[in-house]
Amino acid sequence: KKILFVASEGVPFIKTGGLADVVGSLPKYLDKNQFDVRVILPKYMCMKEEYRKQLTYITHFYMDLGWRSQYVGVLETIYDGIHFYFIDNEYYFAGFKPYGNIYEDVEKFAFFSKAALSVLPVIGFQPDIIHCHDWQTGLVPVFLKGKFHENAFYANMKCIMTIHNLKFQGVWDMQSIKNITGLPDYYFTPDKMELYGDANYLKGGLVYADALTTVSPTYAEEIKTPFYGENLDGLMCARANDLRGIVNGLDYQEWNPETDGRIYQTYTADGFCNGKAKNKEALQKELGLPQKKDAFMIGIVSRLTDQKGMDLIDYMMDEMCQQDYQIVVLGTGEERYENMFRHFAWKYPEKVSANIYYSEDISHKIYAACDAFLMPSLFEPCGLSQLMSLRYGTVPIVRETGGLKDTVKPYNQYEGTGTGFSFANYNAHEMFDTIRFAHSVYVEQRAVWDQIAERGMREDFSWNASAQKYVELYNWL
Ligand code: ADP
Ligand code: GLC
Repeated sequence: KKILFVASEGVPFIKTGGLADVVGSLPKYLDKNQFDVRVILPKYMCMKEEYRKQLTYITHFYMDLGWRSQYVGVLETIYDGIHFYFIDNEYYFAGFKPYGNIYEDVEKFAFFSKAALSVLPVIGFQPDIIHCHDWQTGLVPVFLKGKFHENAFYANMKCIMTIHNLKFQGVWDMQSIKNITGLPDYYFTPDKMELYGDANYLKGGLVYADALTTVSPTYAEEIKTPFYGENLDGLMCARANDLRGIVNGLDYQEWNPETDGRIYQTYTADGFCNGKAKNKEALQKELGLPQKKDAFMIGIVSRLTDQKGMDLIDYMMDEMCQQDYQIVVLGTGEERYENMFRHFAWKYPEKVSANIYYSEDISHKIYAACDAFLMPSLFEPCGLSQLMSLRYGTVPIVRETGGLKDTVKPYNQYEGTGTGFSFANYNAHEMFDTIRFAHSVYVEQRAVWDQIAERGMREDFSWNASAQKYVELYNWL
């Protein structure tokens, strides 16, 4: 079978979050004898030079988009055995970041989605299934099931829409979207692309795709309710039979404390404590924190947004800084949260290290060095950071929602089971109580703590199991 992934980001080429980790790694773990999986991404100018250099030009053509006629350049490369194609157009993809203003992005991704379909006969790849990811590719099923399906080349193609985050839907005013896409009025009704008077890309994808998935079983249930449903819970219920939750895997080659060249000292689950202690000491030194062996080091690597529970942390930060904790943050996002961490790093330089930027290197070092990892999300479709933490023996402290609930087993002091600490309600004091409980285990029962961390390291969140679930879905389709 031939499968085509269409997405707006994918490692190692371009990444702003977990979507890129999934798109870049899942194809590698699908059996090559059964599947020819290829990936289409935009050729962003902001892609790292070392990757942009690898791409070779294949061809170009012009494509209609509404009243415009647009250049579509096509480039390719093989990376880690996977065939990647890139759509080039400097009018759309020349920004400093992959995403910009929503009014630019809706046109950018209408172009990208249509180009991803138009390019297929040109490159001679006729997929059985097109696997689309998030709102940026929501128009792919819409275009495919419209005019494209009338063409024999596309007539038998099926498509899947995977929701990595239901909050982002690609919403803009209907008249503009009609102009941009050239789609007829017929599409802009509440049973298709309209939602409360606006045009909605993700909704279009969710209506027209043959199967829907999201990135954890719990999130698949949650989005059928108003709290998590982002105004699409009705549609999620209506399509419940076509919706599956498949938990993300982690690229275990990329994220492996035994071989990771980015960390100060590699280690394995056996006797990981020594390795972790060395990493902790080195990170303290690098970040200018006091070199205290027993300080409870809590890591946060995250987009700094409401989704990630930053307001709970904000609320408790002063109190947390009264404890014997060291809080190491790596993240960017909303200015108020960036400044909040800068403020506490200034107020408590011995307790807080605020690294308000993006860095793969430092992220690996934090996962390896910290004792615990804090992720009190308001909602979390899957979450990969907690999987990275588990893999590196860093005990996750999470709120029981979405993928966090499916992947972190709460420590049970009576049975001696569990891989992390968790709390149920979105409440700052509940979060702080959970952190304090974790801290007390760390201080008073270090052997128990180490067992929790070790159990986490021995869990299997590689793609092995989850890739198999996608295989079942592909075969069923
Ligand atoms: P989301 O996709 O919602 O942001 P995930 O937990 O699925 O959340 O994935 C986040 C990914 O982005 C992880 O790989 C995490 O390590 C990475 N990440 C987030 N912020 C940064 C940062 N500032 N620097 C480096 N990596 C980051
Ligand atoms: C989204 C979600 C995150 C998930 C990632 C990859 O960014 O916020 O929970 O892990 O997509 O699926």
